Parts: sequence; C-alpha cells; structure tokens
Amino acid sequence: MISFSPDTGIWLLTTPHTSYALRIDETGAPRHLAWGPRLTLREAEGLLVPVESAGDSFEGLPPVGEELPVDGGTRFGPPSLQVRYADGSRAFEWEPVGHRVHEPAPGSTQLVLEFRDRVHPLFVELHYRVREDTDVIERRTVLRNAGDQRVDLLRADSAAWTLPALPDYRLSHVTGQWSAESQLRRDALPYGETVLTSRRGITSHHANPWLMLDAGDATEDHGRVWSTALAWSGTWRVTAQRTPDGRAGWTGGAGHEGTSVPLAPGEEHTTPVFAGLCTDGGFGAASRAWHAYTLAHVLPRGRETAAVLYNSWEATGFDVDEASQKALAERAAALGVELYVVDDGWFGSRRSDRAGLGDWTPAPGRFPDGLGPLSEAVHGLGMRFGIWVEPEMVNPDSDLYRAHPDWVLHIPGRTRSELRNQLVLNFARADVADWAYGWLTRLVGDHAVDFLKWDMNRAFSEAGWPGADQGDDRLWSAYVTNLYGVLDRLRADHPGLRIETCSGGGGRVDLGILARTDQAWASDNTDAVDRLAIQHGYGQVYPARTMSAWVTDVPNQLTGRTVPLRFRFHCAMAGLLGIGGDLTRWSREELAEGAELVAEYKKVRHLVQHGAQYRLTEPLGDRPTVVQYIAEDAAELLVLAWQYGPRHGTPRIPVRLPALTPGARYRDTRTGTVHHATVLTEYGLLLDLPRGDWSSTAVHLVRLPDSD
Ligand code: GLA
Repeated sequence: MISFSPDTGIWLLTTPHTSYALRIDETGAPRHLAWGPRLTLREAEGLLVPVESAGDSFEGLPPVGEELPVDGGTRFGPPSLQVRYADGSRAFEWEPVGHRVHEPAPGSTQLVLEFRDRVHPLFVELHYRVREDTDVIERRTVLRNAGDQRVDLLRADSAAWTLPALPDYRLSHVTGQWSAESQLRRDALPYGETVLTSRRGITSHHANPWLMLDAGDATEDHGRVWSTALAWSGTWRVTAQRTPDGRAGWTGGAGHEGTSVPLAPGEEHTTPVFAGLCTDGGFGAASRAWHAYTLAHVLPRGRETAAVLYNSWEATGFDVDEASQKALAERAAALGVELYVVDDGWFGSRRSDRAGLGDWTPAPGRFPDGLGPLSEAVHGLGMRFGIWVEPEMVNPDSDLYRAHPDWVLHIPGRTRSELRNQLVLNFARADVADWAYGWLTRLVGDHAVDFLKWDMNRAFSEAGWPGADQGDDRLWSAYVTNLYGVLDRLRADHPGLRIETCSGGGGRVDLGILARTDQAWASDNTDAVDRLAIQHGYGQVYPARTMSAWVTDVPNQLTGRTVPLRFRFHCAMAGLLGIGGDLTRWSREELAEGAELVAEYKKVRHLVQHGAQYRLTEPLGDRPTVVQYIAEDAAELLVLAWQYGPRHGTPRIPVRLPALTPGARYRDTRTGTVHHATVLTEYGLLLDLPRGDWSSTAVHLVRLPDSD
C-alpha cells in the first residue's frame, strides 16, 4: 500500500510488517524518513525534524539520508548518481516534476517519483514497488536524456538505503573465490566507506551483491536486520558508509568504477532492481523472507518441484561418448534419478579445456548419430535429458574463433588474455547474441532437451568493443541485457525447458539471473564438509529451492577428503539433490544405499524446496550443524544434522525445534517415536547421530491428528 500526506509531503510505503517513509524536501530532493516497523502516516509525521539549512553550517548536506544522493551542491559522500553533460560539467539539482502511483500487477503497488535536473533536460524517476505478501521493497531508477546532446552517467545506482541512527552497525556479507564461494562474514561496519564490488563482468565468486546490516546485536533468531540484494549479473558496486556523525547507509547498482553509461539524445536507461528488506527475528527471519520472496516473485517457476539430477562432470570429465553416457544413464535411472545431464565434452573437438569451445555440434567420433540416440535412451529410461553449454565463450583453437576473431571482447593491438584457455564472446553485440540464441533453440528443439546447464567460465579482460559507438562503456550492461534476452527467448520458445545457472560453480548467482533460471550450481567444490559452509553462506539470501548439490565420489577430487556416502547425501539433500559420482564404480551396497537415500529425499523434498528454513546451529562448530525445513502449515518437518566425530565426553545438547504447532504431537517417520511439540520446542530433540567421523542424520517428523 502507498499513501501520501499532502500537508507534509510524506510518502508512506506499507508492507505486511514494515513501513518506508520519504518526502521531497524544501530543495526538491527526495529525503529518507523511516524504514522499520509499521507506522501510520500520522505517526510518520512525528518523525519529521526541522531540516537545518545546509548553507548555515560548515558541513554541507549529510552523506546519508537522501533517497539517491547526487553529485551536486554541497554533497561530499559517494554519489548514487553522477552525470557529465556534453559541456563537461557534472552536476544535478533536483526539480520535482510529478509522481504516479499504479498497480503493475494484482497485489502490488508502485510509486514513481519524477524529477529533472534544474538546468539540463535529464529526467530521473525513482521507482518503489511494494507487494501484499512480502516486506521486500523493490527499487530502481530510470534516467532519460531529453536533450539533444549525449549525457554520460558516470554512476547510476539503482537506489540508496538509509538506516535509522543505531548505537552500532555490523555488516554481514559473503566473500570467496572459485570453489570457496559464499563464505559468510559478519564484521563491525568500519567508519568511512566500505566497497563491495565485482569488476569481473559477472556477479563473481568473490563477493555477492547482497548485504545485511544490524546494530551488532542481532542473532540467528533475535534482532532487527536491514538487508538488500541487487538483481544484476554483471559488474556491480555497493558502497556502505559509516559516517563520522554516526549514521549508516549504502548505495548500490550495476557497473564498477571507471565505466559509464552513455545516454544518447532521447535514450533511456533503467537500472536493475535493488531490493530491500527490514525484518525482526534475526538473520534467520531475514533469510526466510528473502527465500519466500525469491520463490514467489523472482524465479519463473518457484512453486515447481525440482528433479533429482545426475551430472556426468566428475565421473567422466571431458571423456564423454554415447556408450559410456548410456551406461551411466542406466545406473542413474536405477538410483531413482529423474534428470540426466551430460556435461562438457560432447561437441566439436572438445577433448580438454584447450579446444573446441564455440563449435556446438556433437563430436562425430563420440556421437556418430548426433545426440538423438542418447536423448532417446535417457527419455526411454524415464528421465529428462539435460546438457551442458557455455554459449558466451570460445577457445581460440576453434572453428568459431577462426571464422570470427572479432566476436570476442578485445582491444585492437592488445593482448587477448586467456583464462582457462578461453576468450569471452561479446554478447553485447546483437549478432553474437542472435547466433547463440539460434544454435541453442535448435539444440533444444532438435534433441528434445529438457534442461540446460548454462556455464560461464571466466572473467572479462581487455573489455573492448571496437567499432561500436561508446562500445567500451556500453558493453558492460548491454552484455548482461542481451544474455537475459537470450534466456528469455529460449524460455519463451520452449516452455518446458529448465535452466541451471553456473559460472565455474557459483560465480553468477543473483536475483537477476534467478529471474530467468530455475536453479544454480553453487560451487565446483563438492566436498561435503566444505560445502556445509558454502551452503550456509548461499542460503543467507538464496533459497534451497535454487541450490543444486551433488553427491560425488571420495576421496574428493578437489580436497582429497573422504566422508561417508550418507553424509554426502545428507549434505546434498539440503538443496536440490543431484548425483555426480562415477556410478560404474559404485559397489552394489553403495548403489543400494544411494537408491534408498534418493527415495528418502523424494519423500521430504517438498519441505526442503518449499518449506521455511531454520538454521539451528552454526555450521562446523563443536556441536552438530543442524538445519530444519518446515511446511508452511507446520504439519511436517525435516531436520538434517551433520557432525565431525566429537571428543568423548562432549555433552550432547538437545536441539530446540522452532515453528511447530503448539501443543501438537509429531511422529518420527523412521523410528515411530512420538514427540510432544512443547518438548521439542522448549527442551529439544536429542539427535541420534551415529558414532565416528562425519556422521549425519535426517529426521522427518509428521504432525499427528488431534484425535490420535
Ligand atoms: C565449470 C563448471 C563445472 C563443469 C566444468 C566443465 O567449471 O562449474 O561444473 O561443468 O565447467 O568444463
């Protein structure tokens, strides 16, 4: 709901549990007023304090507290909007020109505040969208050059967010690298400016465009948390500030420093959505609210149950052919797998990562009759058929590169730096994007492909677009927009097609790509122990419904660690269960245990994929790592627990289970034991973890009818 007080000029956005208030101040600038628990308009008026005239003081305008601080006037903080006009001047002065309130879809309302620069005909709109079923507020900015000369947007953030004055500020975010993504950090927000960014062309393994702030006192289940997430899959920057006068806020959007967005006369630029959320109930409640929002409003099919998949990568590497894939597919089907995915190596001269990328025709020596026979065999086994693609890349040793050396990002006369022996195709070019769309839609259509694993295995370098007007600046966003366009076109052509986003593991996971895909490969690291920490960080914002996880062989290919099959399964069952081991080498006992665990997962996956997730302990501490998934109506829940063999004498502490139906009783589907909800919630469940290293368990509890 959105309301307005003409007397005070206050706009009040109302979500189920929160309010967000702003007003246009005496200078015409949009100023933040409040973001927190629900307020009425009248109550919001009580928050108004007389604004000191900046001209009377030495300081200038405060660096946080505006809805989109511009580079202009007496503002000295990091600008959300910085423009350069054709005459070289850089300034923006707010002049309000109107507003609109409308309903983009049932259950949602949008406020658009319209402004222009006082001197140049540069128009700026601030968009705010609220919905009836979520506290997430979606913000974005739209800029339009109505003049007759180019304007450069040196910085065009989606939104700036302001916190109330708090005694302290703590920042939660993730850092990482390839095979160690999503490492959760919680640190005091330093005074000054803290920049979280990717300059790699992709969202990156190294940082992810979400953050959470709290007063330093929030826990997993108590305290107020403000969080935001940017829906963008290219380079990005978020600058958080803790100001000398004790305030905090942050600004963020697409693009990194040194690049700009050129706006030709008449051109319009729409920033990606920067979504914000204020929650009570600690980090757990914040995560659950993001999960629910992502399922309901981001994913194209968030309500759909994801299939148990098999992926060939760790089993066969590049060594794929029809016969060996069929053999694996037969074993996968026997395990209960529902979707069989052939990974890298099926096309062109691809025998290693040195050659063939870009030549998307089945390798004749390996698939003499094309992919048809394998696709038919997989379908004949009752599974869906999936295939790996990396459409944005090319090996220099490929027919594609020999034919189109100009299609890659490059700067004439300079080195074309390779990473993983490959170069980046310039998806900002319409002809390149059309080429990719063309072969992809044929591949999917001709071979009854049900699923694409869409990979992207390197960062940009020498990011030039020779010949295009302002190409070297334009490519950063045009690349992502065209990538989104290809995904959208494919989905429209093939409504049954499902897509997994992958970028050397979790290098491109964000709300932008998740709006066009169905799941994400969270990391190339399949070591179940490392994975617990990765999954913990991943799940802070992104739901288990999107988190693809495989059971692979031991010793783990990356870490050399050996943990039991059951532990590996339980770890993968915390997301979308997949199998990635070489099934031709699994013993009869392992195949039987695997089949049993796949069947077990199918009985509880609705809880993992669509239930509410509660992290009951910190991962990899002295106590077991415990996660609970509970149905919306609390009729059923799953508890997954993992632990390193504890020292003898370590106390076993029962785990208290939240969100159960008060007074009800729950039956353990494996043991038949009946528990009282009061006992489980107030005194806890004593987990029956087997002795020994890396033990794990899955407890499925079902509520008994009242009469039982
Ligand atoms: C990337 C992916 C892997 C696998 C390989 C294939 O690293 O993340 O899962 O698909 O590429 O080359």
